Amino acid sequence: MTETATDAVGARHEAESTALAPGDHHEDAPVLVVDLGGQYAQLIARRVRECGVYSELVSSAITPGEVSARNARAIVLSGGPASVYADDAPRVDPDLFELGVPVLGICYGMQLMAQELGGAVDRTDAAEFGRADLSVLPEGSQLFRDQPNEQTCWMSHRDSVVAAPAGARVVASSPATPIAAFEDVDAHRYGVQFHPEVVHTPHGMDVLRHFLHDVVGAPAEWTAVAVVEEEVERIRAQVGDAKVLCALSGGVDSAVAALLVHQAVGEQLTCVFVDHGFLRADEAVNVVRTFDEHFQVPLVHVDASERFLARVAGVVDPEEKRRNIGEEFIRVFEEEARRLGDIRYLVQGTLYSDVIESGGHAGVAAKIKSHHNVGGLPDDMDLELVEPLRLLFKDEVRRVGVELGLAENMVWRHPFPGPGLAIRIIGEVTVERLDALRAADAILLDEILKAGLYRDLWQCFAVLPAVRSVGVQGDERTYAYPIVIRAVTSEDAMTADWAYLPHEVLQSISTRIINEVPQVNRVALDISSKPPATIEWE
Ligand code: XMP
Repeated sequence: MTETATDAVGARHEAESTALAPGDHHEDAPVLVVDLGGQYAQLIARRVRECGVYSELVSSAITPGEVSARNARAIVLSGGPASVYADDAPRVDPDLFELGVPVLGICYGMQLMAQELGGAVDRTDAAEFGRADLSVLPEGSQLFRDQPNEQTCWMSHRDSVVAAPAGARVVASSPATPIAAFEDVDAHRYGVQFHPEVVHTPHGMDVLRHFLHDVVGAPAEWTAVAVVEEEVERIRAQVGDAKVLCALSGGVDSAVAALLVHQAVGEQLTCVFVDHGFLRADEAVNVVRTFDEHFQVPLVHVDASERFLARVAGVVDPEEKRRNIGEEFIRVFEEEARRLGDIRYLVQGTLYSDVIESGGHAGVAAKIKSHHNVGGLPDDMDLELVEPLRLLFKDEVRRVGVELGLAENMVWRHPFPGPGLAIRIIGEVTVERLDALRAADAILLDEILKAGLYRDLWQCFAVLPAVRSVGVQGDERTYAYPIVIRAVTSEDAMTADWAYLPHEVLQSISTRIINEVPQVNRVALDISSKPPATIEWE
């Protein structure tokens, strides 16, 4: 996580005129990022939040009425892959510009503004992709105030604005793009051709901060503390004095969701931790200990490993494996819910990225689809969902976890799939193969932790393929399993790069796994990115 991201949910900034009154929710005065199809739309929303201002992603079909109804503080138009002249180019209702709500257009968003507001856009011969030099006029500029006249930025465009809208002043240019930024201070309309949201634009966050804090007047007050306060209040209002159930998976999302609900309604919450036997080494013990000792949250620990093992016996098809595990999970969970009785609410750790992916931002009024991220809970369970993380990105959930006192090792735990090691074992899942994978995986993690690399990685785990190969150990021929090491870096698991692990670390991992896990005689490294590969192997 970057320095700025740490500031994100952590920093406090002196409130100015548009600070929210006590009791108001940040959700009630968002900065709306209009998704015009660009790959960075989500990133813009995250960057705005990193400036301490609550932000949501919305569809380009949003109407001026909806913007007003949401009491939006500002509109940011994202980039997009299209040309404003393409037939199917995404557009926005031009009346959005007449609401008096400050607008910042980025890349395609800037071009769309120019086109709608009486300027002009053209395909010049000067496409710009990548790093570009930027000359800015900080004097009198709102966006570039106190910035160096010469800086670099990240560009990605073919078309350019060739005439700024009437009333707008050009405040930045690049060698290929004379109009790289414009400002119409009186009309609160701003446009930048470059991408302030990417790290390759060194002063990009300054541009966003100036827009948000100075132009919009939104102080940086959306913090982890504020999120906790708002969610606790919201959960209390939703749940009243009813009983609430939360399925803990051992991952950070369900843990943070459970802690928020516990803070809100205390002993009305019961957590159920279903141990399906496909967890990593020591995982079950750690989860139970964390919740019992540190938080005194009532926790039902169900050891269902034998039932699950029976459900995957002889199953090699990955989808069938997943289905069987999901069904068994439901069965165990339902049994526990029945046993506890009188449960009205179910906590789920659904994240904002899940909501976005399921089209939850298609219209601001769009209903947020329910996710079954605890293993496919049935629709007919008759439990109302409590989703306290539905507006947060993963890194924000981690900040909230820190705020709630969740242990560092839980907060920074790598994502772990619901079906667990069962989908990291290719082919049949047996006790012997589980033991081999679990042991190898524990060594891998131990070495990664020792090398101080854990936090640099999105995920790192061992995979057991469905083959064996010949080796020689001592003077004896062996016929044993290989282990594949998968280590990736990623922002959000949508895309991922294989991680560069130092050779000496790889060497220790390999030597230790082969020496310490008798069923293994070979270690391989997965060097595939996503796409085209996926992170998990099944
Ligand atoms: P793939 O393998 O599709 O995985 O690149 C993307 C991310 O999702 C995680 N994953 C899961 N998480 N339940 C989960 O909660 C699942 O069934 C599941 N399957 C994959 C995976 O670990 C990676 O972070």
